Amino acid sequence: MKLYHDKLMYEHNTLALHARADTFACVTNDAELLEALAWARTAGVDVVVLGQGSNIILAGDVQALVVQQAVRGIEVLDASDTDVILRVAAGENWHKLVQWTLQNGYYGLENLALIPGTVGASPIQNIGAYGVELHSLLLRVHARRIADDKPVTLDNAACQFGYRDSVFKRECKDQLVITAIDIKLSRRPSVNIGYPALAAFFADRPHIEPTPQAVFDAVVGIRSSKLPDPSVEPNAGSFFKNPSLRSEAAARLLAKHPDLPCFSQGSGSVKVSAAWLIEQCGWKGHRAGDQGVHPQHALVLVNYGSGSGAQLLTLANKIVASVYEKFGVALEIEPRIYGFNL
Ligand code: FAD
Ligand code: EPU
Repeated sequence: MKLYHDKLMYEHNTLALHARADTFACVTNDAELLEALAWARTAGVDVVVLGQGSNIILAGDVQALVVQQAVRGIEVLDASDTDVILRVAAGENWHKLVQWTLQNGYYGLENLALIPGTVGASPIQNIGAYGVELHSLLLRVHARRIADDKPVTLDNAACQFGYRDSVFKRECKDQLVITAIDIKLSRRPSVNIGYPALAAFFADRPHIEPTPQAVFDAVVGIRSSKLPDPSVEPNAGSFFKNPSLRSEAAARLLAKHPDLPCFSQGSGSVKVSAAWLIEQCGWKGHRAGDQGVHPQHALVLVNYGSGSGAQLLTLANKIVASVYEKFGVALEIEPRIYGFNL
């Protein structure tokens, strides 16, 4: 395991922010991970776990050992006529895993195509897109405790998954390095095309049969048409979560703004479109210096050059304030912010 000191993090975050890490190590197997954790304990420094940096905002330098989890491997644990159970190491690339499962006739991940990042990060915010969330396929998360290396396994219920939420953002925050996940996929093709954009895609193209491969292709096409590629326009995907409102509050808002896109959650709450709220406040396409709001998707903040994380957060705070003033709705930032109180 090689340690890098005063490491420039530019290439390790998709917002291409120029912060530095005190110390950085990329670990490609369990022994290297243990070595890195031992080094941090001896040096008395905090550990920050990193995947591919597609959901972080580096607001300043990171005073910690940043451990990039790059352990690879996919193992078939069990297979029947109907299902397969896979153990996937945390450092695998998520989109490549989705492609690999499709190629092998294992179905269920199609709607989650083209989400950047690693498998190890996927449980942190319970990644979700186009009507599917990770929690519906995940059996277990395997991890090591940062404090004492102890291997731990959390079953699905213990992960306490919610919308962009899990125990890893709360009680277990900063305590675990996820090493692998177990997922259960189907060997029988079945598709989920209920999400409005997907439903519209297939309704407009009745000649295309919605097979898992066709759903994968449709998701890749839809995403590519509306979300900017971080390697061209550095971004972290959705900068804010879609706010969840009590049904009564949502009904009051909808009475005034009938065009507001919203999705009932069951349980008396309604998720409303943060992108719509931001667009109505006039931010879509806004640009000030090197920071801006993408002209095609109001939820995506872009670093167009050498902007800093702190500047980006200043823009984000202005957006939050204006949405609150106009609609009385509080937006919450989605990516994890580093470089403040570490
Ligand atoms: P990182 O950004 O490196 O880390 C994110 C957080 O997870 C950090 O707090 C980090 O400490 C923690 N973490 C990472 N790996 C581990 C580990 N092994 N053990 C413990 N903690 C760990 N997300 C969605 O849900 N749906 C989308 O549709 C979606 N679209 C996106 C589109 C774009 C263009 C971009 C840039 C991002 C998008 N995202 C989306 C967000 C992002 O892809 C996911 O959150 C992804 O899971 C982050 O993976 P990562 O490896 O880059 O994590
Ligand atoms: N919309 C606007 N203005 C815009 C963009 C969208 O009004 O600039 C409206 C659309 O017309 C649509 C609604 O907002 O009615 C929803 O748009 P979209 O389908 O693009 O989804 P989203 O709610 O903006 C969420 C996730 C995405 C995920 C997509 C698809 C969050 C915070 N974001 O975006 O996840 O890919 O749904 O399921 O939940 C991410 O987390 O980084 C991310 C990209």
